[in-house]
Amino acid sequence: MKRHIVGNWKMNLELPEALVLAQEVAGFAGDYPTLQITIAPSLPWLVSIKEALTFMPTNFALASQVVSPHPHGAYTGDVSATQLKPLVRYCLVGHSERRRFHHEDSQAIQSQITELCKVGITPIVCFGESKQSSSPSMVNQVLQALKRDLASLQPEVGEKCLFAYEPLWAIGTGHPATADYTTKMATAFKAWAKQAFTHDAPLLYGGSVTTANAAALGSIKVIDGLLVGGVSLHGREFKTICAHYSQRV
Ligand code: PGA
Repeated sequence: MKRHIVGNWKMNLELPEALVLAQEVAGFAGDYPTLQITIAPSLPWLVSIKEALTFMPTNFALASQVVSPHPHGAYTGDVSATQLKPLVRYCLVGHSERRRFHHEDSQAIQSQITELCKVGITPIVCFGESKQSSSPSMVNQVLQALKRDLASLQPEVGEKCLFAYEPLWAIGTGHPATADYTTKMATAFKAWAKQAFTHDAPLLYGGSVTTANAAALGSIKVIDGLLVGGVSLHGREFKTICAHYSQRV
């Protein structure tokens, strides 16, 4: 399975900086052919970035941070999957910041996944608990919440998704989940996914990934990639994360 490094730029960077960083990442992506390297810039920059990148290695792609749950119509401010299709190969869905600040619920998430899959954009479905807990029931609660997010979808649709375990308490805090904690959650996810889907569903980890912890996270066998927020805004550090992760045996 191809391993993924996804840079979520969130609402950062003005256009000139975004163009420079996108060129930089597209420039080094080819050095790590075992990885799929993806960046998710702010929506208005996608067209300019796509046009400016005269060379895109096959293992480099753009992602959107958002998509409308609706196919088209009177939804001011929304952007449909069809409109994104010429620009991106991936799209984040269910990120905790969308759930928190835009009240996106399981219904919206299912509709977004459906719209994306209809046009052939791969959803990256984010999930994770809000508080760190060593309680044995926590893993189950997290998986139940993920199942609710996918409830009305056919398994064939779920099979088209990448998943990203992002414990909320680790996002932007500088305190990533430990390897043991992540392994426990990821192992349970994989066991569930094996029942739910016909293939080994790819699972990324996100939450305070840095150059210092990328190698340790890379050694977790049940994790297939990293979703990187803050550090993905710095080309050199993002490259170091890719380098560490590509060395995983
Ligand atoms: P972070 O963000 O790496 O800055 O913690 C991760 C994310 O929100 O996807």
